[in-house]
Amino acid sequence: MILNNSKENIETAAKEIIAGEIVAFPTETVYGLGADGLNPTAVAKLFEAKQRPSFNPLILHIVSRDQLNELVNIESDLVYKLINHFWPGPLTLVLPKKEKVPDIVTAGNPTVAVRMPQHKIAKALIEACGKPIAAPSANQFGFLSPTTAKHVEKQLGNNVNFILDGGKSDVGVESTIVEVIGDKVWLLRHGGISLEQLREVCETVEVKKIDSDKPNAPGQLFHHYAPNIPMKFISDISPNELEGKRVGGLFFKENPTEINFAHVEFLSRTGDMREAAANLFFHLHELEEKELDLILVEPVEENGLGIAIMDRLVKATNRYR
Ligand code: TXA
Ligand code: MG
Repeated sequence: MILNNSKENIETAAKEIIAGEIVAFPTETVYGLGADGLNPTAVAKLFEAKQRPSFNPLILHIVSRDQLNELVNIESDLVYKLINHFWPGPLTLVLPKKEKVPDIVTAGNPTVAVRMPQHKIAKALIEACGKPIAAPSANQFGFLSPTTAKHVEKQLGNNVNFILDGGKSDVGVESTIVEVIGDKVWLLRHGGISLEQLREVCETVEVKKIDSDKPNAPGQLFHHYAPNIPMKFISDISPNELEGKRVGGLFFKENPTEINFAHVEFLSRTGDMREAAANLFFHLHELEEKELDLILVEPVEENGLGIAIMDRLVKATNRYR
């Protein structure tokens, strides 16, 4: 059931979480499926609802520095630098965990991923719970991430009782994940904070090359974030491949092709990369609804948030290779 974000509904959602149930809620990146992050049984319900392989660790969502200090040990000034610049916001930090963080949250890792979201409703919900909320993106494992309450209902409506509505997520791609090791910042997942933004704040930021068979993060899997109909880059289609098919198109700014599309979406008519990121999953969800046989997508330029967008597009098309 979708609930509007009234004070009463936020309190109802908080009570559910405190009682060990799961609730979907908005964040500025994508919608999350939340549970009490210190209650292992509640956290297990998240994996069940998402049909997610349980070796994948989760992000704990917090609202205060006090909460942070209860969960992790911070020895590096670089970590504080990142926190001061980017929190609250779409940056997740992987940090050495304290004992009270349950193993099911970290999949047995000695580190835990923590994020302080910026979204008003997310903050109010975490505040009302008085606990960190463990929350993966509120989608079925491997499929499109949700940026509206309706998207959550579409995939998980049968598995979650309460979906708090907070409008459309304005960042639209997941948080960037980093881990500080020594004097280096390692970027583990591209997301809402761009590599350039990180490099403006920290001297050494390196992108971790990941073995896609043994990922730390599902976002590092070879295919992920995919719509439920085949999707390909326009450059990968062969001449007769479109015959007799209902084809959808996803373009950055305009459609330079002569293809006869059944439906087309544009990430940003003004060519703005932030707007494009915010619209990415939203338009893919729209295309999923149009009874298409195939979605063709145009690559975007890989700078700023364009890197995170391309990462999602490449992984989605990999599912259908
Ligand atoms: O924007 C976001 O990050 C959204 C919203 C809801 O906050 N959440 C999200 O969660 O994207 P999820 O579970 O879909 O992705 C979290 C990623 C996973 O890829 C997970 O493997 C990685 O964080 N992760 C969690 N703990 C980790 C750890 N200790 N070391 C490395 N990666 C970790
Ligand atoms: Mg996810």
